[in-house]
Amino acid sequence: MKQLNRWIAMGLLMLGVVFVVWGCAPYQKEEESPRTQAFESGEAEGAGKKGPKIGVSIYRYDDEFMRLYRLELKQYLEETYQAEVVMRNAGGDQEEQNRQMEQFIAEGCDGIIINPVEVQAAGRLADSASQAGIPLVFINREPGEEEQSRWKERKMAVSSVGTDSRQAGTYQGELLLEAPKKGDLNEDGTVSYAMLMGEEGNEDSRYRTEYSIKALEAGGMETEELFSGSGQWDQEKGEKLAKTALDTYGSRLEVIISNNDAMANGALKAAEEAGRIPGKDILLVGIDGLRDTVEYIKEGKMTGTVLNDHEGQARTASDILIKMLGGEEVDTAYLVDYIKITGISTFQNLEGEE
Ligand code: BGC
Repeated sequence: MKQLNRWIAMGLLMLGVVFVVWGCAPYQKEEESPRTQAFESGEAEGAGKKGPKIGVSIYRYDDEFMRLYRLELKQYLEETYQAEVVMRNAGGDQEEQNRQMEQFIAEGCDGIIINPVEVQAAGRLADSASQAGIPLVFINREPGEEEQSRWKERKMAVSSVGTDSRQAGTYQGELLLEAPKKGDLNEDGTVSYAMLMGEEGNEDSRYRTEYSIKALEAGGMETEELFSGSGQWDQEKGEKLAKTALDTYGSRLEVIISNNDAMANGALKAAEEAGRIPGKDILLVGIDGLRDTVEYIKEGKMTGTVLNDHEGQARTASDILIKMLGGEEVDTAYLVDYIKITGISTFQNLEGEE
């Protein structure tokens, strides 16, 4: 995995990861203390070398992608800024997350990072942090443009770091266009697919779904949705949905598109159990670049995935927060690019390293 990480880091450098920025939210400069300046330089002063205390709330700990994300956040904040990180699991409960926010404030956190359970709760969370004078960064689920404009207008020390899931969906569609027969395995002129979606009402689910199909169609393919369901980002739920789709449509089903890798891994299990030969008589694609999925791609069972760069996102979120702690102006939103991962193009390099 270290090699993979190294390779991915190199890839990111080579591809020139672009942080696309929209909106600009200068906020009122708070008084800069020597301590906040020290946070910024990454070297807190004084004998104890104490960095900032950062509260982090994650929507659910049992989400594999968010597990990788939070580990990176903690490590990066501790190693780069000598931060004391207070990490909490909201367990999929918005009320619980609201309570955690109040605790972070009461416990004297210097900065807060929130992966919201419900993105609609962002306004309230932003107000709480702002009233307490504590900079806040939302991660993974970006609050809407209206909410972001409010931060800007009111000069609140609030920002967000995320991705453009239209890009992820487009890459997923393009991965299929690069696959055998562009996904139309039975050559009847139409790609017949099942769509395994993430949480309902989630922007990642919506855009990944929409843009994967748009890309296939832009590539000249007719498409037919045989089945669609919400597996809520979860491997077991994804497996169950895929089983239903496979049982119902049998060999008519050529492609299973999953909004994330956890569900794609579940779909792979279901396909194998149904006696299908993934990579040959059925194609599967995911998003995230989870370790298992990457292994399946190397084995030829999975057609491809799109790297959801949790390291880049965690580091950007941390850097932005530390800048705000130092009184710097930041933008309301930062987007980190996705990167396509296919068996053919990507892993030749990896093999060479091993
Ligand atoms: C990831 C999913 C994860 C979700 C949580 C998405 O960006 O691709 O794997 O479950 O975020 O919100």
